[in-house]
Amino acid sequence: MKTQVVIIGGGPSGLLLSQLLHVNGIHSVILERKTKDYVLGRIRAGVLEQGLVDLMQRAGVSDRLMAEGDFHDGTVIAFEDQTFRVDFTRHTGKPVVVYGQTELTRDLYDAREKAGADIIYNVENVEIHDADGDTPSVTYQTKGNSHRIACDFIAGCDGFHGVSRRTIPQNVRNEFEKVYPFGWLGVLSQTPPVHPELIYSNSRRGFALCSMRNANLSRYYIQCPITDAVGDWSDTAFWTELKRRLPAPFADTLVTGPSIEKSIASLRSFVTEPMSWGRLFLCGDAAHIVPPTGAKGLNTAASDVHYLYSALCDHYLNNSSHGIDTYSEKALSRVWKAERFSWWFSTLMHRDPNQTPFDLKMQQAELAFLRDDDMVQAVMAQNYVGLPY
Ligand code: APR
Ligand code: PHB
Repeated sequence: MKTQVVIIGGGPSGLLLSQLLHVNGIHSVILERKTKDYVLGRIRAGVLEQGLVDLMQRAGVSDRLMAEGDFHDGTVIAFEDQTFRVDFTRHTGKPVVVYGQTELTRDLYDAREKAGADIIYNVENVEIHDADGDTPSVTYQTKGNSHRIACDFIAGCDGFHGVSRRTIPQNVRNEFEKVYPFGWLGVLSQTPPVHPELIYSNSRRGFALCSMRNANLSRYYIQCPITDAVGDWSDTAFWTELKRRLPAPFADTLVTGPSIEKSIASLRSFVTEPMSWGRLFLCGDAAHIVPPTGAKGLNTAASDVHYLYSALCDHYLNNSSHGIDTYSEKALSRVWKAERFSWWFSTLMHRDPNQTPFDLKMQQAELAFLRDDDMVQAVMAQNYVGLPY
């Protein structure tokens, strides 16, 4: 088999890249390790930057997003018993859109299948060959049969645990990592959101976040020790702790209900450099991970996809290699700014178990600065809605 671009990974990065290439007449094949239902079963964040919304529109996959997405002009920050609001639209002219990542992935799968895309599920033993040469190819197995796809380029959209990053030789790779000493316990419940906008809370007992998927589907998180297991937390224990971490007006009106999903996620910052090697290009979680505080995971994957699809269009449609030659440098420039914001917001809003009294004073001063200074809020708003591509 031969194609122009092999895309390893059928998550949001791979699907969006494939659809954008398709609308520009460039053929790709997606190799996905799991089934479509398994991929759609993942519960992930749901705050989209305008840049991602624009990409979905360019990909011709924005109808449901625009019809069902919830446009948010700001967010509430709670610090101990104080609350204030950061107004995204006033500072940046842009909102963010709350729309479940599962729905975005579903829309992309529907569009790719409608276009008759080549998506191969349940692939095993994927290997990348000659990525740094002139005849790259990818081999894989399905149902015990071995296959090879010759291609011009390979997009590694296979997430943190994929094969792509590991294909780049260790002596070429530089990896940067920070593991946070706490996790997030998340609950999905068929209850109305406690507030029309998100609430990020730094309480004496730790971080809490109130989010949502729609008018009757809420998503809540509380910071928890990394040693906790989901089984340690009953629904009652979760709701009790969440209420203790919210200012009274929200705690008193919170509608609780049975969890329909409950999970614990660890928090890390991670970047690998470079994001390309020969004809292999890394996109999304394959290249970088952010703590979910700033909702930058999917949105930073989207900017990678923007740079890579633009580069491939330049190659195929304009016979220019400039985009390909500068992809890693351009993508990393924005990746590091998203990493910084995610680190800053995570450090600001969580109670580190190793925090010293001085550290707490610094946190309180930073939150007061954000509460009291319009320019500081403007900087946060610019980062939250998404820096330009
Ligand atoms: N071969 C084929 N597919 C693979 C392989 C492999 N060796 N390894 C992983 N995959 C698939 C996974 O099954 C998954 O569907 O690659 C996909 C990677 O998807 P994500 O992990 O979601 O990464 P990405 O598409 O970059 O998404 C970026 O969305 O899912 C969130 O947390 C993620 O916020 C991040 C954003
Ligand atoms: C979510 O809705 O899951 C969500 C929202 C905002 C975040 C993280 C997660 O910062």
